[in-house]
Amino acid sequence: MGFLENRLEGSPRGRRLSYFTAVLVTSVLASAFLFNARHWTYHARIDEQVQSTLDEHSEFAWHHIPATSNLIYYPCYGEFQCARLELPMNWNRTDGAGEKIALAIVKLPARVPINDKRYGGPVLINPGGPGGSGVSLLLRWGQRIQTIIDFTSGQPEPSDDKGKYFDIVGFDPRGTNNTTPTFSCFPDAQSRYEAKLQMEAEGVMGSSDSAVHQIWARSEALGAGCVRSDKDTEWLGNFMNTSPAVLDMVEFIERHGEWREHETERLLSEKSVQLAIDETEAAVKQRNAWKRGKEKLLYWGFSYGTILGMTFAAMQPHRIERAAIDSVVNATDYYTGSWLSNLQDTDLIMNKFYEYCHEAGPESCPFMSGETAAELKQKFENLLTSLKEDPIVVPGSVGQPWDIVTYSDLVLLLSDTLYAPYVYFDFFAKVLAEIAQKNGTSLLESKRQRHREASPASTGCQEDASGRDCYSDAHEAGIAIQCTDLVDVKDISKSSFYDYRDTLRNQSKVLGDAWSAIAMVCLGFKERPAWRFDGEIGGETSHPLLFIGNTRDPVTPLRNAHLMSTFFANSTVLEQRSEGHGSISAPSLCTAKTVRKYFQTGELPSTGTVCEVDERPFHIGKSNYQSQSLSSMDDDILRTAIQTLSREPSVSEPWF
Ligand SMILES: *[C@@H]1O[C@H](CO)[C@@H](O)[C@H](O)[C@H]1NC(C)=O
Ligand SMILES: *[C@@H]1O[C@H](CO)[C@@H](O)[C@H](O)[C@H]1NC(C)=O
Ligand SMILES: *[C@@H]1O[C@H](CO)[C@@H](O)[C@H](O)[C@H]1NC(C)=O
Ligand SMILES: *[C@@H]1O[C@H](CO)[C@@H](O)[C@H](O)[C@H]1NC(C)=O
Ligand SMILES: *[C@@H]1O[C@H](CO)[C@@H](O)[C@H](O)[C@H]1NC(C)=O
Ligand SMILES: *[C@@H]1O[C@H](CO)[C@@H](O)[C@H](O)[C@H]1NC(C)=O
Repeated sequence: MGFLENRLEGSPRGRRLSYFTAVLVTSVLASAFLFNARHWTYHARIDEQVQSTLDEHSEFAWHHIPATSNLIYYPCYGEFQCARLELPMNWNRTDGAGEKIALAIVKLPARVPINDKRYGGPVLINPGGPGGSGVSLLLRWGQRIQTIIDFTSGQPEPSDDKGKYFDIVGFDPRGTNNTTPTFSCFPDAQSRYEAKLQMEAEGVMGSSDSAVHQIWARSEALGAGCVRSDKDTEWLGNFMNTSPAVLDMVEFIERHGEWREHETERLLSEKSVQLAIDETEAAVKQRNAWKRGKEKLLYWGFSYGTILGMTFAAMQPHRIERAAIDSVVNATDYYTGSWLSNLQDTDLIMNKFYEYCHEAGPESCPFMSGETAAELKQKFENLLTSLKEDPIVVPGSVGQPWDIVTYSDLVLLLSDTLYAPYVYFDFFAKVLAEIAQKNGTSLLESKRQRHREASPASTGCQEDASGRDCYSDAHEAGIAIQCTDLVDVKDISKSSFYDYRDTLRNQSKVLGDAWSAIAMVCLGFKERPAWRFDGEIGGETSHPLLFIGNTRDPVTPLRNAHLMSTFFANSTVLEQRSEGHGSISAPSLCTAKTVRKYFQTGELPSTGTVCEVDERPFHIGKSNYQSQSLSSMDDDILRTAIQTLSREPSVSEPWF
């Protein structure tokens, strides 16, 4: 699902768009030019070239714009703005030489100009992974995230002067996606695709007795394939851990302060903005002046993004203005590579699936044909077991290839389903109903969809102009981040692995097996980071963190939020009573308004706050939800935004 199709209908976005396209985007271009003409003549010359490159191509590509050490935004992807920030690969180098990275940054501009009192600054977002693309997240979700945290969901009114309106900013962490160089363990996209298909065909952990041995060997091979080339003096693989990624974020917020100051001066000198009646130019300049070395972070991170956010907060506690830490990872568990604090609540989601399915009845949940919830559980577990020995043949027809569907195919769909119940419960129920009839049609459809998405042909994955292999998979970057984040590397034996796997199986019947493969990822990748922050993850931050956890999250159980909150002074935990990964996997006006209040005023929910969801999966409760007729226009827009978010695939993809 692309973000274009998902654009909200009936939102004020349309009106606002034309305003911003006309005024802001063009002015930013001009700004880069004029501003540079005055301060950095070198960049101004490049800008003319960039402009003609951008004009030549109907579609934006990141290599059309230069990497610069100050922020210069160019229009991209419609209403967005893109910049590439040049940073040292090795933050410990003091000679200014050495390899560079170019951080890909995309911004959805605030809905008020930056000279406006209500301009709130940039909120950085991270989707998790590790290895997930913040650029991609922003393009898909940026508008709706802005709708949640802005003062109003509707058009800012000149009369309201209390609220704040934010830029929403996504970036691809070092080594990932549009940030260059990217981290790769394959020579090209085709070989990556072939490895993926083969790995899938060999089966997920637990699909057969031999799967463990194959996955073990493949992990060793893949890790060893992430090698440095002879010409690398500083190799990206040693600089991808979370600590330098935090310093990249620090640099971004400082550069933003610089950009804000210069951009304000430009707007004022060109008289291209109107001052509020009660404001002087001097006051605006003062407010927007770059606070060198003191710029602060606004942040909303999910899943692994909570590790990034908490590590930032531990390294730079004085720089926290707001940080929402959503679907929380146990930091000790992550940094020691244990992966034992993830599956505590996973099977409870399956229980909810049976319960909701039973309640919804066969029309909404075709897997149910008169059974109790307990019987549905039995029925599902029997199906899963039977698939191991009897994969289902799906016959071909004219124009449709034949194939088989297996236990692994169902487990892969199952994990997606647990992450995003509002996206997948309906489909999952349909698949199970068919499987019960030995019909694999819909399951095959989901498998083919997955293959299409990974295929080099359909991802438009080609080498770019600079000859780099395109980034089509977050997995490899994820390996480098995860493995260099480890406090120390341990050798594991197969026999100790079996015990470990049993422990995970005891935690979760449905995901334990598959999850155990994550701990194998570093078998072949024993590289150490050049530098890592080794302080405690915790501290006294300049503003308290907001922790958010779902009652039943498949991989980041609520208890982690409570645990991590104890390490950060004055932070509180918001519980959302839902299933799914991350608060936005379920629609809750209560959560949205709590997050909004936090970003607007800094106020945290009191300890013990629980937010209910507005609607349950299988559309249970939808009718009363729609008849909440007393709600305001603002609530309607907000509700549409969170409803749409919950119906899109989850932020951070499962690892396997
Ligand atoms: C590397 O940089 C970090 C962050 O600035 C600093 O804390 C650390 O002491 C540096 N290490 C060395 C060896 O210079
Ligand atoms: C967090 O992880 C550590 C290391 O795996 C573990 O000892 C601890 O019990 C975990 N805490 C919780 C609340 O799960
Ligand atoms: C299998 O399920 C599909 C629906 O996805 C249906 O169109 C088809 O007729 C079914 N096949 C059989 C043999 O029932
Ligand atoms: C990388 O970013 C582009 C947008 O620039 C997005 O379309 C694509 O899905 C992202 N790729 C991955 C693997 O996240
Ligand atoms: C898993 O659970 C079973 C049954 O409760 C128990 O016998 C076994 O010792 C457990 N294994 C591990 C590794 O926790
Ligand atoms: C925590 O809250 C107390 C009481 O409001 C306040 O005195 C203290 O300064 C706060 N500490 C931090 C680190 O925010």
